[in-house]
Amino acid sequence: MGDQNAGSDEGLVLRRQLAKHLPPQKPPVFLSCFQGLLMLSLLVFVAFLAFSDTTLSWPETFSLQKQYQRFFNQSRPLHPSAYLIHPKHKAFLNKMKEKTIPNPEGLRYHEAYPHNYRFVMENAEVCEVNSPFLVLMVPVAPKDVLARDAIRATWGKDRVVQGETVLTLFVLGLDKSHDVEKLQQENQEHDDLIQSNFLDTYHNLTIKTMVIMDWLATRCPGAAYAMKVDSDMFLNVDNLVIMLKKPGIPHNNYLTGMLMWNRPVVRSKNSKWYVPEDLYPEPRYPTYTLGMGYVFSNDLPAKLVEVSKFIKPFNIEDAYIGMCIKILGLSPTSPPDPSQFKAYNSKYDRCEFSKVITYILGSSEQLIHYWTDYKKPGPHC
Ligand SMILES: *[C@@H]1O[C@H](CO)[C@@H](O)[C@H](O)[C@H]1NC(C)=O
Ligand SMILES: *[C@@H]1O[C@H](CO)[C@@H](O)[C@H](O)[C@H]1NC(C)=O
Repeated sequence: MGDQNAGSDEGLVLRRQLAKHLPPQKPPVFLSCFQGLLMLSLLVFVAFLAFSDTTLSWPETFSLQKQYQRFFNQSRPLHPSAYLIHPKHKAFLNKMKEKTIPNPEGLRYHEAYPHNYRFVMENAEVCEVNSPFLVLMVPVAPKDVLARDAIRATWGKDRVVQGETVLTLFVLGLDKSHDVEKLQQENQEHDDLIQSNFLDTYHNLTIKTMVIMDWLATRCPGAAYAMKVDSDMFLNVDNLVIMLKKPGIPHNNYLTGMLMWNRPVVRSKNSKWYVPEDLYPEPRYPTYTLGMGYVFSNDLPAKLVEVSKFIKPFNIEDAYIGMCIKILGLSPTSPPDPSQFKAYNSKYDRCEFSKVITYILGSSEQLIHYWTDYKKPGPHC
């Protein structure tokens, strides 16, 4: 719908400009009618071409996104039914509701619903000022300044990658022991901290993810893509941007990363990944992207926040996102080259690092150490 508006707006401006430059003499009525019609269809055709071409340059795509955003903003708050729940998944959703909702009238789940939390630091203008193509959202504990500094010195350093603006931001909750003043200072220096007022614990990672989605939807709607990436990762941002700019990579409803199929839910109580049946009754998770680093088109965050009201949160954030995606009637997409998303770290290999997008590392020291070597001049392979 936004596209149509954009087309007619532009058409109007063009028509006005044309009117100004038309010769003042009066042509015969029939001819002028005919010319007008011809001109109009030409304009419609040009507008159609401009907005249907998938090889649009970034500034064009960006303005298109803005148009879509404006439309989206106007229609807010969206009624949940505004989101298309695929008929195939309605039955699944109903089954989930039956099994998990203790009081049927309490259809909304608020534990992880990000609007119930308040931003302590939000850097609300950072996207408006920078107009990023890609936003890297890194969940990290408040006290983990070493991890943040390592990322700021390595893959989070460059603001322009492959000609596109990339922002790296850190997302924190509250921690009883953290030094508020120090964090504020850190933020003043880097403008890259987002903090919400939920308790920052392992079990609350789903809240953190939904806060990330809320921030992207409300504070950064103009970005084209975003990634949730853990702080213990090596990230090859060049390769990521190259992947996102490949023809055929969707601009909407796109979620990719390392795909997890048919994973069983852990029911052993002493596991870190234990999920009780009353939180998630099914024996297996829907397909999801591993939480170490998943990439998505930036239209998804608003949809995820909206649909999350209907899905009981459980503490496995990546599987929860998989669940939300499924209820939205969507599914994660395999990356163009799945071998670029690696979830292990055998030993450092300069050549391999030049090909991957993600790699799990052992520590922040390792990140700096590998990065320093990786950035040395000379061929990688
Ligand atoms: C959409 O709304 C957000 C938050 O309310 C605002 O920051 C942004 O500028 C709006 N975008 C447009 C294109 O109107
Ligand atoms: C999660 O955060 C909420 C809000 O701050 C808090 O009440 C709750 O205790 C936290 N849960 C865990 C398991 O840490």
